[in-house]
Amino acid sequence: MRVHFKTYGCQMNENDTQIMAGILLHEGFEIVDELELADVVILNTCVVRQKSQDKYHSALGQLVKLKGQGKIKLIGVAGCGSNLEGEKLLTLGADFVIGSRSIVDVAEVLRRSATGEKVVHLEDRTHLLEADIPRFRKVKHHAWITIVHGCNRFCTYCIVPYTRGRERSRPMQDVLREVERLVAEGTIEVTFLGQNVDAYGKDLKDGTSLARLIEETSKFEQIKRIWFLTSYPTDITDELIEVVAENPKAAKSFHIPVQSGSDRILRMMNRRYTSAQFLSLVERIRSQVPDASISSDIIVGFPTETDQDHRETINLVRQARFERLNLAVYSPRPGTVAARFFSDDVPREVKVERLNQLLEIQKQINAELNGAYLGRVVEIIVEGKTKDGSYYGRDIRNKIVIFTSDEQLNLGETVRVRVERTTAGPLYGRKE
Ligand code: SAH
Ligand code: SF4
Ligand code: F3S
Repeated sequence: MRVHFKTYGCQMNENDTQIMAGILLHEGFEIVDELELADVVILNTCVVRQKSQDKYHSALGQLVKLKGQGKIKLIGVAGCGSNLEGEKLLTLGADFVIGSRSIVDVAEVLRRSATGEKVVHLEDRTHLLEADIPRFRKVKHHAWITIVHGCNRFCTYCIVPYTRGRERSRPMQDVLREVERLVAEGTIEVTFLGQNVDAYGKDLKDGTSLARLIEETSKFEQIKRIWFLTSYPTDITDELIEVVAENPKAAKSFHIPVQSGSDRILRMMNRRYTSAQFLSLVERIRSQVPDASISSDIIVGFPTETDQDHRETINLVRQARFERLNLAVYSPRPGTVAARFFSDDVPREVKVERLNQLLEIQKQINAELNGAYLGRVVEIIVEGKTKDGSYYGRDIRNKIVIFTSDEQLNLGETVRVRVERTTAGPLYGRKE
């Protein structure tokens, strides 16, 4: 049977798709890139915002049509949508539903479904996601590795703790065994993943921490860069900052969502810091890691957000000078505290206006920060080739550089590139 995946949402879902595809391949299924060639299509879904949910609902509708025309045989839904919607997805046309904590059983679920049974499998089986589980990876030089499943934070707007469950860290020895295996397959860069990646190890109560994991991982000679995502502001430890500062393989990149610059809104969001505390964290990181690149996420139009709250967010953005900022319009998520107790009272036009204003401000900041790169030589790991024959890759601060080269380059190769032109987006240059 030929299986095609369509993946939505965050890097964790990307990683989960690689695991499900790896398991299926190992169990004798075939994985295909093109939907047209598939017998089975699995949507690995996201529900972080209503828009994400609408997107896969419409994809599911399309698949139901294809199935009606006899072009595909089975439709599966995986990921956070499965956890949230469960059985209901069967009535929308899915043949099987598999939760993001149950992916280890994908082959069995698919086999049962192929006999005509309607399967909904949502059990927490994350303890079985070990280093030896096969993974299907098209890119060899870089690997995502989920090190902590779930989230305990319960920010009032967020669906993730309801879909991914409570935090569960993988034992460090298991993660290191996976790194070892990846290195043998040619991996030189790893990204450690967690919705709150700094919480890694806390539940194990054996001294395991993200900082220690980075140190241990850096001992593999072949590993060149180590990334980690996403950080919760108050969980970043001094030990972690120190390791990033001192370990040359640790990427100088922190993704720390702030969500708002208004202390009143932060309280309503159940984010446990003030804007001043966030800014002092930014300061602390920059004083110890002078070339640190700090990026963030912000939600605009949270319930009751006033012009004054919005101005406070603008002030924070101007002071923090993020290297990158993901902006999202607030979207009520069923079952969350915010959706139950706060009315979504900021008009749509106001939300969009605030979003656009922040986009403009951030664009200006990006242009200024990128301008400082002009004429500099940066070390880039080659990630791919553009349609016009240029190459692209990123430096250890996560800056994307598009560059030309007289010689043919291999993916995963490290090269020195002189930056010749900068924009608010990528940098452009030429290989030295
Ligand atoms: N664990 C991370 C982010 C998880 S979700 C953190 O602590 O911030 C990724 C991003 O989606 C969030 O940073 C937030 O900006 C956005 N997001 C989450 N729930 C949302 C909602 N209900 N409406 C709009 N954006 C949301
Ligand atoms: Fe969601 Fe908050 Fe957990 Fe991030 S820390 S995943 S925003 S509950
Ligand atoms: Fe979406 Fe789930 Fe990730 S809701 S953002 S796929 S954790």
